[in-house]
Amino acid sequence: MIRKSWSCGEKSPVLHPGYIREGKTAMIYMDNAATTFPKPPETEEAMLEAIHTLGNAGRGAHSASLSASRLLFETRAQLAQLFHAEDPSCIAFTQNTTQGLNTAIDGLFKPGDHVITTACEHNSVLRPLYRMQAKGLEVTILPADRKGRIDYNELEKVLQPNTRAVITTHASNVTGNVTDLKKVSAFTRRHNLLFIVDAAQTAGVLPIDVQRMYIDVLCFPGHKGLYGPQGTGGIYVRRELRVRPLMVGGSGVHSFDREHPGEMPTALEAGTMNGHGIAGLSGGLEFLKKTGLENIRLHEEHLARRFYEKIRRIPGVTLYGDFSSYEDKKECRDRAENPGRVATIALNLADLSSAEAADLLSADYGIEVRAGAHCAPLMHEALGTKKRGAVRFSFSWFTTEEEIDLAAQAIQSIVSDAG
Ligand code: ALA
Repeated sequence: MIRKSWSCGEKSPVLHPGYIREGKTAMIYMDNAATTFPKPPETEEAMLEAIHTLGNAGRGAHSASLSASRLLFETRAQLAQLFHAEDPSCIAFTQNTTQGLNTAIDGLFKPGDHVITTACEHNSVLRPLYRMQAKGLEVTILPADRKGRIDYNELEKVLQPNTRAVITTHASNVTGNVTDLKKVSAFTRRHNLLFIVDAAQTAGVLPIDVQRMYIDVLCFPGHKGLYGPQGTGGIYVRRELRVRPLMVGGSGVHSFDREHPGEMPTALEAGTMNGHGIAGLSGGLEFLKKTGLENIRLHEEHLARRFYEKIRRIPGVTLYGDFSSYEDKKECRDRAENPGRVATIALNLADLSSAEAADLLSADYGIEVRAGAHCAPLMHEALGTKKRGAVRFSFSWFTTEEEIDLAAQAIQSIVSDAG
């Protein structure tokens, strides 16, 4: 078995993609569903430049403030282009997906409304919904089966006269299963419901066209598939839709009004924006455009399929999720919008707890993964991993075939040793 020469506690060298691609990594990072690592040089350089140039956007007419305003506008335009929004003002910046989802859930419904969601959701959807439920919102949660799949036919059965929306993740952060947004939007359109999508695991990885996919609100992170820094993200709101803001305060305009401005994007942006972070996000988006979302998606799918093929028959490996899309041997060139899965694979090893397995992967092989419950409690209940959690491997553009092979070998060794 190949063991990495790196040992626990050794200081990591400065990592950058070229360094990683030469196969000299101090660690094999496979927790990209939590946050992508490393970030491309475009992200780093844009942040550095911002540190040296930015003032506060919309808070002055001097050049530093104007630079910040320009940066925010240009980044909004990049995001609007990526998601095919009507115009850049439909995008407000948030600090993460959770803030966007809280804003939408708190700002669109009133007591007595009914919304439908799924057992595949992250707590960033469930907890704001539970909080609203305590104030009188009715919530129906569609169950998931042992493979983490929902039955789309159930949507019609749970519809009520007061149903206002469907809220769903685009892909599970545990299993990597992709939700069939076409089927959901057919339902929301038929019944004139709002369609709110959590794109935490798909923004920058799967093509998203909010207009063609009939999405009313899209919440997305900057620090995952968009390769920006942590503390960045955004919310797209369809042009005619009004969302009550979660926070009000300084806006840089209409200072004598008692009410926060109602126009997007200012409506959902109170206080100083994370200009330096947004600069990094802009750099990440530039990298994404240069590299090509479809190239990234195909690379990640290739790696995930390779990993799956190498580990699926190892005795002692229990996989979770729906892998039926991998039975189609061709990689999904023609199914970009719904390839069935993203490059996230959850499993358990022999009788080890997920935390024990992740500790072994890290300590003995330098492989960094997430273990335990992944903030998606209902999904773990569906998969039968409530007690044990799951070991989650998730890949990015910067993951290499060599790293995939090392991870598969490490898994083989761990289950052999445990057996
Ligand atoms: N939601 C992120 C994850 O799945 C943090 O790890």
